[in-house]
Amino acid sequence: MLIAHISDTHIEGWGRKTFGIAPMAENLARCVDHINGLVPQPDLVLVTGDITNHGSREAMERAASILRDLRAPFYVIPGNHDRRDVLADVFGPTACPTESTEFINYVIEGPDLRLITVDSTVPGAPGGEICEERAAWLDRRLSERPDQPTVIFMHHPPVRFHVPETDMDGFEGMDRFWQVVGKHPQVVRILAGHIHLAALTQWQGVTVSTAPSMGMRLTLDLTLEHPSEYILDDPAFQLHYWSEEQHLITFTVPVRGPEVSYPFAEVTES
Ligand SMILES: [Fe+2]
Ligand SMILES: [Fe+2]
Repeated sequence: MLIAHISDTHIEGWGRKTFGIAPMAENLARCVDHINGLVPQPDLVLVTGDITNHGSREAMERAASILRDLRAPFYVIPGNHDRRDVLADVFGPTACPTESTEFINYVIEGPDLRLITVDSTVPGAPGGEICEERAAWLDRRLSERPDQPTVIFMHHPPVRFHVPETDMDGFEGMDRFWQVVGKHPQVVRILAGHIHLAALTQWQGVTVSTAPSMGMRLTLDLTLEHPSEYILDDPAFQLHYWSEEQHLITFTVPVRGPEVSYPFAEVTES
């Protein structure tokens, strides 16, 4: 099974760049073109939040108009810059098969992997949260198929990544989340976004990985002394390949212009 993973597209309204600088809609359109050219096609595409920059319906509709060009089925979840109700309304139940609009929680029964999203957002706040209700829902859904390898996807990574701005945003209920995950050894990965960097770490034996942004990379400062800034970057996405040996292999794929590859066999030394 092959999963393409897009995150943090931060789209603004029609005709506008994000913060007046970042061409995020154009970047997303280039990324969609790139994914559409992949052989094999992904079984599905996950879009892990911060789809819009300011949560407006206009920006969500602009993002949807681009994402609907994907050949593969795609699924969306909100980030802290989005509004749950607008997301669910604009994308509808095919791309956002949520069980309610109180929280955007749902399960995708993929061919080889089960994918579960639990809503980590708090309306009006930048940080993440897993409250008791969401933890109980996740526990219940994970309990349904204990033998099926499962990926959890969410906007906020449930662990600190030493990225100043997103660490400061915080995550309420982190321990509560990990208590649930610790009961379900079929969880093979947690996929997230939010930190605008391709990164991974392990927590309680589970790999947590984050997809890059669609062209707004946060500066890396492990001293944690300086406020984050962003750098205009090539848009990028990730491919997660669930292999025959049952391990999830992740590739970070930059989206540049037309690419030229050079066969090693034809390279002659000068
Ligand atoms: Fe973001
Ligand atoms: Fe975010």
